[in-house]
Amino acid sequence: MAKIGSDIKIVQDLLIRSELAGIPTETVYGLAANAFDPVAVAKIFKVKERPSFDPLIVHTFDLEQAKGFVENIPEKAHTLARTFWPGPLTLIFRKKPIIPDLVTAGLDTVAVRVPSHPMTLELLRSLDFPLAAPSANPFGYVSPTSADHVNEQLGDKIEYVLDGGFCSVGIESTILSFEGEDVSVLRLGGCKVEEIEKIIGKVSVKTTSSSNPAAPGMLESHYAPRTPVIIGNISELIHKHKHQNIGLISFKNEIDGFNPKHQFILSKKGNIDEAATRLFTGLREMDALNLQFILSEYVPDAGLGRAINDRLRRSEVIRN
Ligand code: TXA
Ligand code: MG
Repeated sequence: MAKIGSDIKIVQDLLIRSELAGIPTETVYGLAANAFDPVAVAKIFKVKERPSFDPLIVHTFDLEQAKGFVENIPEKAHTLARTFWPGPLTLIFRKKPIIPDLVTAGLDTVAVRVPSHPMTLELLRSLDFPLAAPSANPFGYVSPTSADHVNEQLGDKIEYVLDGGFCSVGIESTILSFEGEDVSVLRLGGCKVEEIEKIIGKVSVKTTSSSNPAAPGMLESHYAPRTPVIIGNISELIHKHKHQNIGLISFKNEIDGFNPKHQFILSKKGNIDEAATRLFTGLREMDALNLQFILSEYVPDAGLGRAINDRLRRSEVIRN
């Protein structure tokens, strides 16, 4: 198992030696490596069993550092970075050659964000390179929102997880791309579309998948537990599956007469932001029970609810 601790110096030493480490962010935990070092970045793909066509996000401590490895920051991107960084927003820019092709899966663009977590910001400031970091889970599985989650799945493949507590947002960053004046959402996430539109006006949401998705996190089957997930009206689903070993993830209601150990309520108060922080924990807890099915329901489709519903929909597709 990896060591879990709060020693930033240990992480710094590992990263300088081209090794990996688990790091906290406000969205989900990342599996970090020196973004300028192809040897280190290759280890990320190996540990995650991630296909090399899926590019990584590069984490920096501010926009100035990003200017060392990206070109042509559009005006709207400047404005968004000033408004939302540090925070759960990833921006796609044209890359400079210093970013290895492995990081971007051969694309001429690179995804960049400044995470809002004090320990990781301190770590980034202490290094003279930015960090490539995908979510610290095996490819296709639910993202980790605690150091223990990282250890459960990648603990035998990495040495250290920097423990920054539970992730305060709990769902991955929103990804935006820029083409001329047009701004597109490639992945719904922790930065609300409504908040983005308040700053730069209308954006288009292009998160449907294809065989060659713009952001492979948008693959139909992603963020999925091993247990099949079915989304719909919970009472109808319970009725239909009453003879099977099932678990429930509901938005705010407890289902009377149903084994409480097999129920996970996202937010008893019906608070969407709280629901987002608990979604991946709920999927993991239910997955650990070896059930036949996890039954769930969509949450109100506004604010972070859009990102939650996106992840629920993708978790539902049964992988083959
Ligand atoms: O919140 C987050 O974004 C977390 C934390 C650790 O920062 N990271 C994360 O990384 O979710 P990952 O690798 O699990 O998802 C990154 C997504 C992928 O869907 C990838 O396809 C997309 O970003 N992406 C990366 N570079 C891209 C690019 N140049 N163009 C389009 N999509 C890109
Ligand atoms: Mg991921």
